[in-house]
Amino acid sequence: MALVDIFKNKENIDRSHGLKKIIKYLENTKINSVLDLFAGDGSFNSWLLYQINPRLPEVTHIELDKELHSKLHTRFGRHRNNCVNTDAYKFIKNSNKKYDLVFCDNGMWHNEYFSVLPNLKNVLNKGIFIHNINCRPYNKFSNDSEWGVTRSDFYEMIDTSDCDPEDLLEKTGQKLKDNGFKIKHGTLFPRELYNGHIYLYFGLWHLQ
Ligand SMILES: C[S@@+](CC[C@H](N)C(=O)[O-])C[C@H]1O[C@@H](n2cnc3c(N)ncnc32)[C@H](O)[C@@H]1O
Repeated sequence: MALVDIFKNKENIDRSHGLKKIIKYLENTKINSVLDLFAGDGSFNSWLLYQINPRLPEVTHIELDKELHSKLHTRFGRHRNNCVNTDAYKFIKNSNKKYDLVFCDNGMWHNEYFSVLPNLKNVLNKGIFIHNINCRPYNKFSNDSEWGVTRSDFYEMIDTSDCDPEDLLEKTGQKLKDNGFKIKHGTLFPRELYNGHIYLYFGLWHLQ
């Protein structure tokens, strides 16, 4: 499955490229439990979490939207009690159960991964953290918009309209350290193209 260009493909977009590569990369890493923070209805990426090898992990899915949660429950939760209809940020603030992998398929705008980091220690001791990194937001992104200002604050850059993904990874690493993690390794996996340019990556961290 090649990278999909979402500028050219408008319908039935297959968004699984990045996570499929990650599942392959994590082959033989021991992962028993997974927290899926922004699960949607699970159809884009979250379903792939059940393909983690060498063991089928126990997955807890979080989704705020009621309708999507209902579809999520139908997809994964009919025989388990593992789909929670709540706010992901609140969930990790109040949780003390630790997982081996936290998958943060965050949306953009108000749903960046930035606000996950201050409470990530509540759900991850040492293990794997995966999140979206948007290095070139499309659709007339403005540094002065609310989202733009949040990005500038987090990445400590005035202009975040067209960034080197390695710079964003490095800044995220610094923030993880500020929040008490030791980093074994951090790397990028391309996710999607927009008009020929990779605008979206997954950042993957081995934390300890
Ligand atoms: C990029 S989509 C996730 C796609 C999903 N992982 C999949 O495989 O289909 C982001 C999701 O986050 C949900 N969301 C937004 N804010 C949230 C919050 N505060 N807590 C939990 N879910 C939230 C949205 O409703 C949306 O379904």
